[in-house]
Amino acid sequence: MKVLLTGGAGYIGSHTCVELINAGYSPVIADNYDNSCPEAVKRVEEITGVSVPVYELDVADFDAVDKMFSENDFGAVIHFAGLKAVGESCEIPIRYYRNNIDTTLTLLEVMKKHGVNNIVFSSSATVYGVPEKVPLVEGMPTGCTNPYGWTKLMNEQILSDASNADSELSVVLLRYFNPIGAHESGRIGEDPNGIPNNLMPYITQVAAGKLERLGVFGNDYPTPDGTGVRDYIHVVDLAKAHVKAIAYADSHKGTEIFNIGTGKGYSVLDIVNAFMKVNNLDIPYDIKPRRAGDIAECYANPEKANKVLGWKAEKNLEDMCRDSWNWQKNNKNGYK
Ligand code: NAD
Ligand code: UFG
Repeated sequence: MKVLLTGGAGYIGSHTCVELINAGYSPVIADNYDNSCPEAVKRVEEITGVSVPVYELDVADFDAVDKMFSENDFGAVIHFAGLKAVGESCEIPIRYYRNNIDTTLTLLEVMKKHGVNNIVFSSSATVYGVPEKVPLVEGMPTGCTNPYGWTKLMNEQILSDASNADSELSVVLLRYFNPIGAHESGRIGEDPNGIPNNLMPYITQVAAGKLERLGVFGNDYPTPDGTGVRDYIHVVDLAKAHVKAIAYADSHKGTEIFNIGTGKGYSVLDIVNAFMKVNNLDIPYDIKPRRAGDIAECYANPEKANKVLGWKAEKNLEDMCRDSWNWQKNNKNGYK
């Protein structure tokens, strides 16, 4: 089955491309390389030995997307394309709303025109806002604290309204927790622009000597060691959840939401200590004030994905720390 991956050249898309090929699917990528590069796709081809067609286009561009659908018989779409930096979304919210909403609307219109009925969407645990309690279950209240999060929640609404109105449409909303790690080959991984915002790429760049010290944002949260707790998930496990989601969408109608996390919460210091131990490296750090907008704890109850999708995270924190460093040390400047 041909599967369209919008944003397929990005961090999660490239890993999903590999897992789809391993499972016998034929991925096609549509990406404008806004936050990625062609080299990532070349590396996917190198890992799998399979050539992956790429359409360099803006997924909000109806004519370009329409033409691509005319040239391919897609069985499903995985919609990764989007802008994802929380801080930047507060500075340029209109660009975030325009890009992240328009891409989905265009896709839904073109899918309808071409009779393509299955879509998997990259949502985020950020839609739970400030959680009342953890672990998070899919039915818990939602609400966001930044424009990026709102684009995810609005997209969830748009997609479920579309499936309510069209009995043929299958929508799978995957709420990712915190993806880290890289493919075990060390050939693909996360390649942030400039100074990383997220914890693991910051740690790996300190380990590589590109950054001097890690700042730990707050040690006075109501958590066991006072630092923020998150549900870190290996990107390869996350990629495999998409393979399950495609199969599920193909055999069910309507909208279904799944948390994609491990169910385990680790603190910032747990991650730093595990990284140092697994890789036998020192990560110097300083305790800094809390980062605006951060929450104390966020981790999933992933039971629904375990039961309904037949998916479960298989990799542990050691794998995540080892593979993150393996990617960084072999690619000092990412894909550049
Ligand atoms: P990424 O930036 O590496 O990948 C996104 C890709 O989409 C990039 O290749 C970018 O060039 C492309 N893109 C953006 N706008 C486009 C457009 N209009 N047309 C065509 N291509 C476009 O990000 P990622 O980490 O791989 O995330 C993938 C998806 O998962 C995003 O929707 C993101 O919001 C969501 N998500 C990510 C995380 C995370 O921590 N990485 C967590 C939750 C959800
Ligand atoms: N942290 C530090 N120092 C850093 C970076 C992060 O101490 O330099 C801490 C944060 O305060 C937080 C934890 O590490 O406690 C994780 O922070 P990240 O920035 O790696 O991840 P977030 O949980 O803040 O955000 C991520 C994605 C968002 C997504 C959210 C919920 O980046 O896009 O998960 O899914 F919305």
